[in-house]
Order: sequence, then C-alpha cells, then structure tokens
Amino acid sequence: MSNPSLLILAGDGIGPEVMAEVKKIIAWYGDKRALKFDVSEDLVGGCAYDVHGKPLADETMAKAQEVDAVLLGAVGGPQYDNLDFSVKPERGLLRLRKEMDLYANLRPAQCFDALADFSSLKKDVVAGLDIMIVRELTSGVYFGEPRGIFTEGNERVGINTQRYTESEIARVARSAFELARKRGNKVCSMEKANVMESGVLWREVVQKVHDEEYPDVQLSHMYADAGAMQLTRWPKQFDVIVTDNLFGDLLSDLAAMLTGSLGMLPSASLGAPMANGRPKALYEPVHGSAPDIAGQGKANPIACILSFAMALRYSFDQGTEADRLEKAVEKVLADGLRTADLMGPEGGSPVSTSAMGDAVIAALDASL
Ligand code: IPM
Ligand code: MG
Repeated sequence: MSNPSLLILAGDGIGPEVMAEVKKIIAWYGDKRALKFDVSEDLVGGCAYDVHGKPLADETMAKAQEVDAVLLGAVGGPQYDNLDFSVKPERGLLRLRKEMDLYANLRPAQCFDALADFSSLKKDVVAGLDIMIVRELTSGVYFGEPRGIFTEGNERVGINTQRYTESEIARVARSAFELARKRGNKVCSMEKANVMESGVLWREVVQKVHDEEYPDVQLSHMYADAGAMQLTRWPKQFDVIVTDNLFGDLLSDLAAMLTGSLGMLPSASLGAPMANGRPKALYEPVHGSAPDIAGQGKANPIACILSFAMALRYSFDQGTEADRLEKAVEKVLADGLRTADLMGPEGGSPVSTSAMGDAVIAALDASL
C-alpha cells in the first residue's frame, strides 16, 4: 500500500517558519514510528499571487482534492491589503474550503496547565478548559448570494446574504453530535433565532437531528450574543459548541483567547469521506500570518504542530500517536519553554521557533 499523502501549503508570513517545525515532526514519525507520508508542497495566499497572479492556482486546487490531507500555514500580509477582493490571499483559503466542501471546522480551545496564568481571565475560570467549537465553514454569510457593493439611487449599498439550507445545517450538526459522543456528550447550538430566519431554521434542524439520531447527547440552544457572554463568564459549562460560519469565526477567536495565546490553537476542517474512507481534510493553525514578526524566528510553532496532531487523529486514525504529540507539547510547556508570545509582562528569555520545534522532537524521543 502506498503511503498516505500530504500537501503542505505553508503560505505567507510566519506560515513557512512554523511549517518547517511540522516538517521535522513528520520526518520524525517516518523515522521513529514507521509512519511515512508522501509529502508535496505548493503555494497559497500572497506567495501564490506573486507567482500566478491569483492566491490559489488551479493545479494546486486539483492537488488538494487528491491528497489525503492538506496542511496549511497562514495567508496574508500588508503588501496585499490593496489587492482586488477577488485575488486577496484569503480568497485562496476560502476557495480551498468551498471547493473541498470542508463544512465542519473543528476548533478546540484547550487550556494547558502550564499556561493558565496567561489568560486574561482568572485562573480558576480557565484552568482545565477543554471545549470544541464546530464552525460551519462552507456557507452562510461568507458565501451567500447576492453579495457585492451596488449603487442604489445616489449612494452605494454593501450586501452580503446569510443563507443556510436544511442539509447544510444537518450535516454540521451531525459532526458536532458525533464529536460530543467521544467527549463530554454535550452540544450547545448557537444562532440568533430571535432576529434571523436562518437562525430559526438552524435551531429547528439541529433539534430534529438531535431528536431523531442523537437523543443520547445533551443538547441546548443559546443566542450567539449570550453565548459570547457565557463563554467569558464560565466557559467550562460548554463541551461542544456548534454554530454558523460568521458566529463561529467570532466565537472561536474569543474562545482561543481564553486559553492565553492564539499561538497555541490548531484546527481541522473536514468534509465528506473520500473513496478511501478518509474525510476530505485541511489542517491549519487558528492564528494568522503575523507579518510583524515574520522571518525572525519568533513565531510559536505549537498551533501548527497541534494541527498535525489533529491530522493524525482525524485523517489517519492514529489517535495514540496524536496523544503522543500532544503530550510532547504539554511536556515542553511544563518544562518552562516559551516562545515570545508566551512571555508574561515580567518578560524572560524566549526560545526561537526552531528551538521550540526541537524541544518537541526531544520530548517525542523521550516518549519512546
Ligand atoms: C479564520 C480566518 C478566516 C475567516 C479569514 C482569514 C478568511 O479569520 O479562519 O478564522 O474569516 O474564516
Ligand atoms: Mg477568524
């Protein structure tokens, strides 16, 4: 049997730096665990625009459709801010999500014990936090038509459309219920059914999928604004949160910051199973391209490393190896290693991106 295939799209800014550490870890798994991957690399985002005049070449899109999983770094940078909307770096990422039909975006927010002091919230509110946001990723106001800036009378009007079909809601709800069964068995669904028809439908469909297919899972509903409030008040009340594309974008940044650093959080974007049974999948850190620190070896590679751990778990059925990698990360943090983003106000001496990656490898070695 051939090795599973990975397409690496490191992207812009700190993307290539953090991905370099993931490549070391992929090589480690090949050498030490006989877990070999066929790795290819390509461009996405601003770097693709520089070469092809668009943020994702068609050939790259085709490759992404064929591999077992895509690993993405980050896209964007200030030099691309004034580009036309249609060729902005972010469009490359959105095209991957849409064309691979990656409808379920899993964004865990886990607070590492060693970092509980970094949260802007009190330690007892966040210590031990482990929640999973499931964000719908291929529909809603991000993609709904009509959209655009139009002229009406003597002024312009900007339009985006929130649109959800029953099947789009049902499939992401199923992803959330399935995940909940493997965790705390609780799902909270968030929308604005008090003001949006799409929210009314969302609530109805999530409830129906629950009642017919997952009655064993505890389901609650919350308006998304109240959800934001509850997330900061007492986040540990949640296990899995399922929500739409835009609310999920906001709530996942909020949840991320509860844990102390955006530099720590991975994500998985999953679609329907392919012929080989693996889901269509793209893994990426939640953080962006951080152009202000790019190229300086300051970036924290942990979010990207943990994204690869999610790939091991969700694409390659290697839960034990994913646990091993997550424990290795936990260990280096417990040992006191910190990249610059994890320095408290009192300062200290941060380690570089590659030193952090090397320490994770050393912890992996020690785990054998
Ligand atoms: C995210 C990002 C993206 C989004 C951008 C980069 C298009 O904020 O993945 O959360 O809005 O979905
Ligand atoms: Mg976002």
